[in-house]
Amino acid sequence: MLPTIEEAMHELELAEKLNPGPWIKHSINVGIAARNIAEKIPEMDSQKAYIVGIMHDIGRRVGIVDIPTHVYEGYKYCMQKGWDETARICMTHSYLRMKEEFGYEPVTETEKAIKNYIVNCEPDDYDRLIQLCDSLAVDYGFVILEKRFVDVTRRYGIMEGYIKGWEVAFGIKEYFEQKTGCSVYNLLPDIGRTTLLTPKPWKPPVK
Ligand SMILES: [Fe+2]
Repeated sequence: MLPTIEEAMHELELAEKLNPGPWIKHSINVGIAARNIAEKIPEMDSQKAYIVGIMHDIGRRVGIVDIPTHVYEGYKYCMQKGWDETARICMTHSYLRMKEEFGYEPVTETEKAIKNYIVNCEPDDYDRLIQLCDSLAVDYGFVILEKRFVDVTRRYGIMEGYIKGWEVAFGIKEYFEQKTGCSVYNLLPDIGRTTLLTPKPWKPPVK
């Protein structure tokens, strides 16, 4: 089950009131990138791609939280609404290496629940598409993968495993380029201009 496009956009509006930030526009742009790529692939549903893209970070509605928390909050929120297809994407979008990310025993209940889900999940083309588009979309538009990886690293620092995740992202890009028959960058509006912009990293407002 999926929300409609209108319901998904409404969820973002509600979430923006709870936790405003660049993640709202980023979410819409992930949706646009996913829709544009899926439109070129006959066996994919571009409307579904758009909706799961819009909703992938909806767990951020709870506030400024870490990766596992926004993943699991998004999953729980969507499941409670009966939207199992967006719930799945909330879980998979941050774990490009899927079960390989969990070669350790998590401590928190949240991470235990995520590990249990991910190790039992075989990624499909929607999981792969949103993992890729999450790395192509920023709040001000679309950028090449190399740029997005540096942006994220400037914000969070470098962690072991990041570079393996980058390799997976480049692999997914090539996978979809085979399916679409073109560079995914050709499907992202105005990427040539926005990829050259370097806005200051966003900082949360001081309360
Ligand atoms: Fe996310």
